[in-house]
Amino acid sequence: MKPEELCALAQEAMAHAYAPYSGCKVGAALLCADGAVYQGCNIENASFSPTICAERTAFFKAVYDGHRDFTAIAISGGKDGVVTGAFPPCGVCRQVMREFCRDDFLVYFVLPGGAFEVHTLAEILPFSFSAGAM
Ligand code: THU
Repeated sequence: MKPEELCALAQEAMAHAYAPYSGCKVGAALLCADGAVYQGCNIENASFSPTICAERTAFFKAVYDGHRDFTAIAISGGKDGVVTGAFPPCGVCRQVMREFCRDDFLVYFVLPGGAFEVHTLAEILPFSFSAGAM
């Protein structure tokens, strides 16, 4: 799948967001090694801390379905569903990526107009705790 297609699926997933508190609608599209794609959105809660990010929604859907090998994720987000710039993943989502992905896992940030920038997991999480440390 081309990066542009993955980014378009992330942008499409924004429409599924449940974000009545922050107004930030976030969508993610996770590409599995076998070509399957899982979309996710953020789902907020009145008690705030149960809120889940779009990236983790996508990962947990995929892992539940038996996927453990991932190639890339695209993330698209913005206030009121309007993409005004990159919406980088939070630290918790980066740690979830670390659990399942190698250093060369690609993370696409969707930019206005369907443009994107790409980083590796190693770039966005250079130091982290993982199973290898235990
Ligand atoms: N959010 C995500 O979905 N992904 C991130 O990586 C950062 C934050 C969501 C959580 C919350 O619903 C809203 O964006 C504002 O923080």
